[in-house]
Amino acid sequence: MEKYVIKGGRKLSGVLEIESAKNSVLPIIAASILTSDEVIIKNCPKISDVLTMIKILRSMGVKCCFQDKNLIINPSGLNAYTVPENLGKELRASVCMMGALISRAKKARLSYPGGCDIGLRPIDIHLSCLKELGVNVTEICGEIICSAKKLTGKEIYLDFPSVGATENLMLAAVFAEGKTEIHNPAKEPEIVDLMCFLNAMGAKVYGAGTSIILIEGVKELHGAVYRPMPDRIEAGTYLIAAAITGGEIELRNGRIKNISALVHKLCDNTCKISIKNDIMYLKSGASRKSFSFSTGPYPGFPTDLQPQAMSLACVSSGVSVVTENVFEMRYKHVAELIKMGADITVQGRTAVIKGVDRLNGATVSASDLRGGAALVLAGLSAEGKTVVEEIRYVERGYLDMEKKLTMLGADVKRKG
Ligand code: EPZ
Repeated sequence: MEKYVIKGGRKLSGVLEIESAKNSVLPIIAASILTSDEVIIKNCPKISDVLTMIKILRSMGVKCCFQDKNLIINPSGLNAYTVPENLGKELRASVCMMGALISRAKKARLSYPGGCDIGLRPIDIHLSCLKELGVNVTEICGEIICSAKKLTGKEIYLDFPSVGATENLMLAAVFAEGKTEIHNPAKEPEIVDLMCFLNAMGAKVYGAGTSIILIEGVKELHGAVYRPMPDRIEAGTYLIAAAITGGEIELRNGRIKNISALVHKLCDNTCKISIKNDIMYLKSGASRKSFSFSTGPYPGFPTDLQPQAMSLACVSSGVSVVTENVFEMRYKHVAELIKMGADITVQGRTAVIKGVDRLNGATVSASDLRGGAALVLAGLSAEGKTVVEEIRYVERGYLDMEKKLTMLGADVKRKG
């Protein structure tokens, strides 16, 4: 079992280039099958979730290969419309293949998607949106079978601004006859990025990032060369790594505006943050202060930074209150942080964190991507040695974490 062995207490300092966003690249890979032409995704991170999406495409006859950091996709050979169950269960983003396959081939077959175990994560909103467009959906023994004679655009309202459901609906509507209006869509920057990619292929999508997305159906899409947006969650994670170790960091290619909710909280924590063009600079404060936040759909505080921010709150003086409003089971990192000496009490969706001077190194286990990243951050700050087990979760979404942290001055070794 792979693990990180961390010797804590070293201040991080240095410059980091942010990778392309995992949660943008994954739906874009799904969207690439909407054309038969070649698609090139530039600066694509070779994280395990991306490699799994590539396996799914290859299982359907789509050619994929890397040339340096560019992913070249040739969807002309698409000849299957079922997402293999073993691959689909590896990640949540496999669900986006549903909308893409329905658009391309008017049929799709997949099992319930996998992904971090942070809640029930149903796909009822996905399915109800697709049915509104005219898709027949049947579920047999956990398998979802979709087919459609014709896709007709219409006004569709999402009960909750689900990121994945918004993406699936955008993918299913690009060729639908007439206009589709998506009301109450997710407004995350990754949704805007998907719109930009689709439009680069010749789609007519407008308004992503606002309360209504408009899609005018087109006949077909052509290939594109596209560089996805930088990963705002990776950027936030390394900002917190600098803050929790009392260090400083310069992030290149960061587009800070996408994580202003975190930036405000880091300022409350007494960090000094400056932004110039796409360069973000953080210097941690002399003494970390408590800060409270509630997660929510964008532009609220990102749920994907909640565990990492909680680690920082553990070693910030005073009482911090965290409320997780997006996923009902996103506190699995709490028990592990308590093993390291954190003082955290959870009541329903709210966690109360009393800051302690230092955490103590311990052997802890990751059980999801961002919770695992939170344990790494806690280990960087803790006294002594921390072993973070099950880092396969972390490596689903963070490229070369050991190398990057080492470059920033941490003592981290990947073992296993
Ligand atoms: C995406 O997941 C991200 N994953 C998640 O990032 C992120 O936490 C989440 O959006 C919220 O920002 C990818 O993009 C691959 P949702 P998704 O649909 O699409 C409920 C990470 O760490 N819901 O917005 O699954 C759902 O249960 C991952 O990188 C329904 O009830 O998120 C949850 O409570 C973790 N029915 C809430 O909505 C549905 O049909 C938000 O889910 C769909 C969702």
